[in-house]
Amino acid sequence: MILTVTMNPSVDIAYHLDSFVTDAVNRAGETHKTPGGKGLNVTRVLSQLGEHVVASGLLGGKTGEFLELELDKAKIKHSFYKVSGDTRNCIAVLHEGQQTEILEPGPEISEREAREFMNYFAKIVPDYKIVAISGSLPKGMPVDYYSQMIEHCVKNEVPVVLDCSGDALLEVLKGKSKPRAIKPNIDELSQILGIEVGEDFSSLKSALSKDIFEEIEWVIVSLGSNGGFAKHGDKYYKVNIPDISVVNPVGSGDSMVAGITAALHNRQTDENLLKMANSLGMLNAQEKQTGRVNLSNYLNDHMLQVNFFTRFYPKLNLR
Ligand SMILES: Nc1ncnc2c1ncn2[C@@H]1O[C@H](COP(=O)(O)OP(=O)(O)OP(=O)(O)O)[C@@H](O)[C@H]1O
Ligand SMILES: [Mg+2]
Repeated sequence: MILTVTMNPSVDIAYHLDSFVTDAVNRAGETHKTPGGKGLNVTRVLSQLGEHVVASGLLGGKTGEFLELELDKAKIKHSFYKVSGDTRNCIAVLHEGQQTEILEPGPEISEREAREFMNYFAKIVPDYKIVAISGSLPKGMPVDYYSQMIEHCVKNEVPVVLDCSGDALLEVLKGKSKPRAIKPNIDELSQILGIEVGEDFSSLKSALSKDIFEEIEWVIVSLGSNGGFAKHGDKYYKVNIPDISVVNPVGSGDSMVAGITAALHNRQTDENLLKMANSLGMLNAQEKQTGRVNLSNYLNDHMLQVNFFTRFYPKLNLR
């Protein structure tokens, strides 16, 4: 069974408008409210893949109850820890082909709540085969919180796939207990290293060869329409993908994380892991909804043959 962690989930509200006028009343047409937050996107895709997955993290207030009801409706199991603050709303106004977003910061977490969730997490971790942790930490939580969570996983020999950025990620990279895989995009990679990393082969290889990544088994850099670049131990891979027609690429990284997690869980080969991760990213980019894929476009019912995968270079020897 797979555990996903979303520490700052949201109710994502999408308002569709013909036009958006500031300093005036705008009336929404179609309105959608869905569970949001990167970890919940990962959860949705894992559930679509038929994996046994449980979503965890922090929830609070009526918005938190709404999320639980929506997860129930989608038949997704959940086991959130309740906090006193309200789960946030994140609003996207879709108008004239544009997307204007307003993101609430989410509740401030008290020291006691942070401590209690950690105890709870430590208790449930041994029940799972793999954990996927995604997204930012809410206000009030120590920056090394993910490091502490990973320590509990490592102690129980439960591998972790981590997708976060900035200081929370740096703390993990500097820490003793390492995740099995991380999935930065190129901006997040550049930010961690404090340099602008180019998308060419040698820049990426030299970036991933840095000591800071040495003990992380899988570093998978997602490159949007350029596919991905990965390091697995001492092997490096470049995944090239063909041009596809894109509808909404938001959440493609989360779909990729779902692919990485499912492939690790099912002990797939490197090649299959990378194919699955990129295919799910692409499939998400072809849908309107964030963190949803149309698996009927995924040929051969699992992952071995993906028709839009044209060029794949395993085990490039780049020394
Ligand atoms: N425009 C695109 N065309 C084709 N494939 C795409 C496109 N955008 C994303 N993908 C696929 O999805 C993967 C992940 O996308 P991306 O690099 O944009 O992740 P991200 O920046 O972490 O996104 P997010 O954080 O919004 O989920 C890519 O490696 C690629 O396989
Ligand atoms: Mg991302």
